[in-house]
Amino acid sequence: MRFFITAAVASLLQTCFAATATDWRSRSIYQVFTDRFARTDGNTAAPCNVANNLYCGGTWKGLEKKLDYIKNMGFTAVWISPITAQVANAYHGYYQNDLYSLNTHFGTARDLRSLASALHSKGMYLMVDIVPNHMAFASCPDKVDFRRLKTFNHPDKFHSYCPIKNTGNQTELEDCWLGDCNMALPDIKTDDPLVAREMNAWIRWLVSAHNVDGLRIDSVKNVNKAFFPPFCRAAGVFCMGEVSEGHANYTYPYQKQMDSVLDYPLYYSITRVFQQKSNMSDLVVALASCTDNQETGCKDPTLLGAFFENHDNPRFANVTQDLSLVKNALTFTMLGDGIPIVYQGQEQNFAGGDDPWCREALWSSQFNTTSPLYKHTALLNNIRNHIVSESAPYLSYQTRILAYTATEMQLRKGAIRTVLSNQGEHAPTWALKTQGMEFEKGKTVFDVLSCARYGVDGNGEVDVNMRSGEPVVLVEENVLRGSDLCTCERGRGSPRYRTVCGGERGTHDL
Ligand SMILES: *[C@@H]1O[C@H](CO)[C@@H](O)[C@H](O)[C@H]1NC(C)=O
Ligand SMILES: *[C@@H]1O[C@H](CO)[C@@H](O)[C@H](O)[C@H]1NC(C)=O
Ligand SMILES: *[C@@H]1O[C@H](CO)[C@@H](O)[C@H](O)[C@H]1NC(C)=O
Ligand SMILES: *[C@@H]1O[C@H](CO)[C@@H](O)[C@H](O)[C@H]1NC(C)=O
Ligand SMILES: *[C@@H]1O[C@H](CO)[C@@H](O)[C@H](O)[C@H]1NC(C)=O
Repeated sequence: MRFFITAAVASLLQTCFAATATDWRSRSIYQVFTDRFARTDGNTAAPCNVANNLYCGGTWKGLEKKLDYIKNMGFTAVWISPITAQVANAYHGYYQNDLYSLNTHFGTARDLRSLASALHSKGMYLMVDIVPNHMAFASCPDKVDFRRLKTFNHPDKFHSYCPIKNTGNQTELEDCWLGDCNMALPDIKTDDPLVAREMNAWIRWLVSAHNVDGLRIDSVKNVNKAFFPPFCRAAGVFCMGEVSEGHANYTYPYQKQMDSVLDYPLYYSITRVFQQKSNMSDLVVALASCTDNQETGCKDPTLLGAFFENHDNPRFANVTQDLSLVKNALTFTMLGDGIPIVYQGQEQNFAGGDDPWCREALWSSQFNTTSPLYKHTALLNNIRNHIVSESAPYLSYQTRILAYTATEMQLRKGAIRTVLSNQGEHAPTWALKTQGMEFEKGKTVFDVLSCARYGVDGNGEVDVNMRSGEPVVLVEENVLRGSDLCTCERGRGSPRYRTVCGGERGTHDL
């Protein structure tokens, strides 16, 4: 009898941790690059020369100690670098040589379990990056000694070597090898049923051994599509794939193989528009390309990973330092249809260029919680988390474009209406008359970013004060009840809020 009870409890626990797509839809993800987030010793003066491509000392323990920095920004999930054992110096985690051992630079199995339980006790999820496409061996491809790999230590487990010459040829992408003569990346033969079975057993083990809630899957376009459905079923948790390709009709169909993909098509559009390389119609086209699922195979835009920075691309601030532009990009990303993802350092306005420059050590910011983008990110998560908890259907509303010009766009997703601009911080102050907002006549509406307050006119519209190219997020007053956004109650008597209650602009208490 005791055995049965234990088994039942164990399976219950299992279910608790097995977070599905539905569980993830409401989340917002903070991407941690483990070697560069926080050190166990908490030393924020430790040097980290990104150009060296060497370990800088970040660990799972260091991360665990700094979880409140992430939680206080409103994030409800953390994505960490791959956890598997690596060849020498592979600080990023994408050169594994043993699937069943951990990267000792990042810590022990105990540290990782401790991180997972610390996250869970804060109500947050753990997403782990995984690499099913390849193993790594530091040599030219023809010099790989397969016997020295700790798992799959036989050439039969891999496709025979060929270089990827034509990236337009899907067969080559899937069957040939990534890497070069410094680092061979033997391509796991995932289309072989026996190998696939071993991979499925591995991922089932990895998820349960480390209490993982979701997976970010690397190099998806280099793996045969049919591999994924059974693999993700074996994992039993949410799967989000990296298909690093901007063409909607290439990337979105992968959503038939797994719950989600990183929204690279939207990434390119967001950066073009808010770096002033194109106008708002670029975003109109991008949004339509996922809505029109017949055309592109996009199954569910509310599960796509929405981002505009990561560890593989130049940061936004590498291209423009204009704070209002990045605030607009963040507002669009975090209040759009997908699951928002912010890469560590975005909130500190880091400005590194392409890999490896975009992999700065976060600790160099002293984990500053008063920097403008930390506060802006916190505010956006706060709004989203509040609306999600008050109104579950919010997540199923698909963003509607109400109106747009070359430089401004008005959007609605359920209770949240946004006005975005890509004019930049030198734009003059002007009044924008909204179109199609359908607010309740006579009600009060707040811009929750500035706490400016507007009366709704007889047509259900407001005259928005556009200031220095800043984004505007409009919410009816009653919707804010129960939140600490633009509230008079919580701050009653406090000078910070007096202006808000008096009907003027105010500041937020973060
Ligand atoms: C794609 O690459 C494969 C393997 O190299 C080759 O056999 C095939 O002919 C190529 N297909 C096209 C359309 O070039
Ligand atoms: C996919 O879209 C690109 C450009 O958006 C186009 O050139 C290409 O022909 C399309 N491919 C398919 C298969 O529809
Ligand atoms: C952008 O990145 C490059 C390195 O790739 C760097 O040289 C440059 O200084 C960066 N720009 C800014 C504004 O930081
Ligand atoms: C944090 O950021 C604020 C605003 O940019 C700045 O004034 C302050 O000096 C920073 N604090 C630290 C410790 O760097
Ligand atoms: C945006 O740019 C496109 C292409 O450059 C142009 O055709 C279009 O007219 C512009 N849209 C607006 C609203 O100005």
